[in-house]
Amino acid sequence: MSESSKAADAEGTSASSKDEIIKGLNEDLAREYKAIIQYVVFSSTLKGAEYGDIAEQLKVHASQELAHALEVAKQIDYLGGDPTVNVQGAEYSQDSKKMLEIDLKQEQETIKSYRERIRQAERSGEFALSEALRDIIVEEQDHEIDLKDALGLR
Ligand SMILES: [Fe+2]
Ligand SMILES: [Fe+2]
Repeated sequence: MSESSKAADAEGTSASSKDEIIKGLNEDLAREYKAIIQYVVFSSTLKGAEYGDIAEQLKVHASQELAHALEVAKQIDYLGGDPTVNVQGAEYSQDSKKMLEIDLKQEQETIKSYRERIRQAERSGEFALSEALRDIIVEEQDHEIDLKDALGLR
């Protein structure tokens, strides 16, 4: 980071904490891409009468993950970063229960990650970002609940 860009940012978020947030948001974006892929594929291949309701819910999750990806990419651009084109490696299982467990684990990692990102944003005074991430995390928590219900964990 050059001295001049440090100085330019002196009154707002420091350049280094902004870079850190952008790096974290790009990890979040790559994870959203992964979630879209998993939900698109899995909502169309999920088999078993006991999973009838969740297959429909997973289609809704897919659309919501796309909306999250669009929002996170917009926030990265706003902060002066480049939204990533990299996807986190998607996972798949032909076993329905196993696949739901994969999705649940991913949602839990996502929630943990957004909590950390919200803390970072607030420490840096990026309150609009924090608000946007809070809206996303509410939906991620709904996803977690849907998956837990489908797995009989609640
Ligand atoms: Fe998401
Ligand atoms: Fe989600």
